[in-house]
Amino acid sequence: MAGGRARVAASILDSDLANLGHAVRRVEKAGADRIHLDVMDGHFVPNITFGARMVKALRPRTELPFDVHLMISEPSRYVEEFIAAGSDSITFHVEIDEPIEPTLRRIREAGRAAGLALKPKTPVRALARYRELIDIVLVMTVEPGFGGQSFMRDAARKIVGAHDLLSYLPLGGEVHVDGGINRETAEYVGGLGVDILVVGSALFHKGHDMGREIRLVRALADEGYAFELNHGKPPVPRDEWRSIASLPLHVGTKLRTVIEDGGIPVILLRADGRMNPDGVRDYELMVPRQVETLALERYATERAAAYEEADAWRSSYTAPAS
Ligand code: DX5
Ligand code: ZN
Repeated sequence: MAGGRARVAASILDSDLANLGHAVRRVEKAGADRIHLDVMDGHFVPNITFGARMVKALRPRTELPFDVHLMISEPSRYVEEFIAAGSDSITFHVEIDEPIEPTLRRIREAGRAAGLALKPKTPVRALARYRELIDIVLVMTVEPGFGGQSFMRDAARKIVGAHDLLSYLPLGGEVHVDGGINRETAEYVGGLGVDILVVGSALFHKGHDMGREIRLVRALADEGYAFELNHGKPPVPRDEWRSIASLPLHVGTKLRTVIEDGGIPVILLRADGRMNPDGVRDYELMVPRQVETLALERYATERAAAYEEADAWRSSYTAPAS
């Protein structure tokens, strides 16, 4: 797992199509974080690629997660097949002419991440009504259909609005940027706060070292993020957080404030754990892996006090009069 914050999803659209199994292994070896699979139906976009059977055939070739990007008119018709094929996330376009909600629900019910994609001219507000059903927003910075097109800077600005849309999710969901990403554009989208950079043709240029391209894209995105959004400090990986306490919300909130005042970021995440007498489950206090031990040591006293307070509250709880 790479340090930093940005992650690279390799699109194999521009690899040797006669040997996709090899392409998948090659990008894994080169250090990609995920595989981005572009499915096109010749109807939603003027190009045809591959379908669920191809995804299924590739599944055993790599351990990397599969992000499936459906550029098709009828995702509802094929979503089950893509779930069964082993997709970890499924993203389709909000511009389609069929109901969107049921398909998002089916993806979520199957335990996969659900995403909606925006063509360059579609505004983020088109997603507002689906907000609570999506884990991913994919911002396209080229017209969908082909790899190797040039990056549309104006479209990339939607990354900011997409993040706002997902900010209520515990880890903020994921914003992906797709189209024309390379070492020239990575720093800019990093500075807008993107989480996943989809990289296609830039990885398959003859004479380029693929591993180096991936490292450069990731590092430049993190540099952009540090410079624009993180007071010049290098980012912490978002996907490695550890729980240091499970507490009722009102106790957890107080402990969080104490820890955050000491400079350690804390996320409160509702857990599956203990049900409290007020009918609400405990919350987990999550901190970045790098500071887990530090936080546990430094705040041992406050943590113990919080557990005592929680126990006392649980045993003396009386329901508020309604
Ligand atoms: C475009 C696809 C992309 C794209 C990425 O329709 O969704 O994933 O091919 O390729 P590059 O990085 O070459 O733009
Ligand atoms: Zn794509």
